[in-house]
Amino acid sequence: MNQHGTWYDDVLPADRLDGLAGDPAGVPCFTALDLPDDEASLIDEKYHDGEAEIYDSYCEIPRYREAESWIVPWLDTAVPAGIVLDVGTGTGRVAAALQRPDRRLIAVDRSVEMLARARARLDPRRSVALRSDARTLPIASGSVDAAVCSGVLHHLPHWPDAVLELARTLRPGGRLVVREPNARYPEHWFAPLENLLERAFRPADRPGPTEESLSPTEYPIDPATLATVARVAGLRRVFEGSAMFLGSLALPDRMPGHRSYYAAANLVDRAVLRLRPHSRGALTLSVWSKVG
Ligand SMILES: C[S@@+](CC[C@H](N)C(=O)[O-])C[C@H]1O[C@@H](n2cnc3c(N)ncnc32)[C@H](O)[C@@H]1O
Repeated sequence: MNQHGTWYDDVLPADRLDGLAGDPAGVPCFTALDLPDDEASLIDEKYHDGEAEIYDSYCEIPRYREAESWIVPWLDTAVPAGIVLDVGTGTGRVAAALQRPDRRLIAVDRSVEMLARARARLDPRRSVALRSDARTLPIASGSVDAAVCSGVLHHLPHWPDAVLELARTLRPGGRLVVREPNARYPEHWFAPLENLLERAFRPADRPGPTEESLSPTEYPIDPATLATVARVAGLRRVFEGSAMFLGSLALPDRMPGHRSYYAAANLVDRAVLRLRPHSRGALTLSVWSKVG
């Protein structure tokens, strides 16, 4: 149960929460009483529990670093203070980068393993961890200043439910920041080259992907569908763009020069994005404002 006298008392209704075991001196952590248990969610949760240990290591690859480099400065300007929700926080790398003296953070994830890592990097005085599903957040309506969804919606077969739920939690004028794989990115152009390189640079002792090692189904987001859903949710678009066209090629980490390739490709992508926000980059980026 949450206690009286904390900044999150009015945001996290106590009757929708249960406590979660953990270090009492650390980041307070709650679990939602209502956690949907459909098969797709359970498969995805198991996958992310297993991925938690290695997640940060592949985020070090330059092509993954753009999430922080885009979201953090944008929120620092638009929403420098107040309560920020990071839904699908994973290991909390974006949430951690968003920590500021005047900000309060609620880091949400279904995966216990991911959440444990997020808690370890957040400041207990200004953050709360919440094990919850993006579609059924135990968060009071109109109580948060901004919500971030970075690489999460595409894990949900019915992701519009999460957009509606996120919009519900925002105060009027509050911002929703979305960064997701773009359904318009022509992945099939690059797939043959990626497969070839992966085979060429795979160590002899590492087998190819098997049925079991494949990720759960993903649902890249079409920006036009997101716009329709956002309108229904009472959100007005503030910004839309896309990132990472060349920089999204998945090069094997054993390939010599792969880091230099990403550095160069990211520079080209950024320059192109400044000139003309192209909609076919691997990531769709958008910011929405709650009307009302
Ligand atoms: C690719 S990771 C993104 C992590 C982080 N936002 C980032 O940008 O590094 C996706 C995260 O979403 C979480 N997730 C997937 N489905 C979810 C759901 N229905 N509700 C809450 N979290 C979910 C996963 O457990 C995982 O930690």
